[in-house]
Amino acid sequence: GKVGVLFGGRSAEREVSLMSGAGVLKALQSKGVDAHGFDTGERTLAELAEQQFDRVFIALHGRYGEDGSLQGALELLRIPYTGSGVMASAVAMDKITTKILWLAAGLPTPRYAVIDAASDLDAVSADLGLPLIVKPPHEGSTIGITKVELAADFKAACDIAAAIDDAVLAEEFVTGREFTVAVLGSGVDARALPIVEIVAPAGNYDYQNKYFSDDTQYICPAVLPAELTAEMQRIAVAAYRNIGCEGWGRVDVLLRERDQKPFLLEVNTSPGMTGHSLVPMAARAEGMSYEDLCVAILRTARL
Ligand code: DAL
Ligand code: MG
Repeated sequence: GKVGVLFGGRSAEREVSLMSGAGVLKALQSKGVDAHGFDTGERTLAELAEQQFDRVFIALHGRYGEDGSLQGALELLRIPYTGSGVMASAVAMDKITTKILWLAAGLPTPRYAVIDAASDLDAVSADLGLPLIVKPPHEGSTIGITKVELAADFKAACDIAAAIDDAVLAEEFVTGREFTVAVLGSGVDARALPIVEIVAPAGNYDYQNKYFSDDTQYICPAVLPAELTAEMQRIAVAAYRNIGCEGWGRVDVLLRERDQKPFLLEVNTSPGMTGHSLVPMAARAEGMSYEDLCVAILRTARL
């Protein structure tokens, strides 16, 4: 049938999605799929309905693509789509709600505080310790994130996040190594791919280093003791299933240096599929090509 590759969109990660969508479209076409690109940022929902896609591959990131809103629209249009459903997409796009659910399930995630105009920033920084991380809880690709080294800089970091989001999250800084775990499948069939370690220049895996720099090093499979590999994969799959993710996703994990304890940061329910992206890298480490990965993800499309 006719497959739509949805890309572009209106979030801050639009440019990333243009790269993801182009890659996925080309890959599916090379596999003989009747795939057509559709820029959801430039065209309307009515135009999407007119296309009469039999199913769609969501290659959108961030708000209005990864956050459940598009998924809800596709449910109403009765078009099967890849990845998580409405609720898991919405939960995963909110780093605060994600942490609340993980903590309730006993899954490890860094300590945090939700900041608003009434917050006592001195008390928060005393509690979480310095440095700490300030994030807009509904953004991706490190947009709007600041590492606060000095209490005097905390307010400015909150203002940066507040300028692009309606909430502000402050998180304990976990000193250690950075990893990501791709997950494929749903329910009891969800499984982790080989772990990727991210070694960014000066430990700063920001937007530039994510998509444009060739200085960021990726090690896959990550070099870790076997038990720690198994533990990290186990908690990544548990974290994914805990919020009801389906199809595919990518769980970001930090490994605390002092005790080698892993901490879950977030799940990306529509991860990047660019040339620099990490789910394709993890698949490749298992012998699965980018093209085969795209086909495997497309097969998970459902209503
Ligand atoms: N949010 C970006 C696209 C990712 O997680 O890959
Ligand atoms: Mg993200």
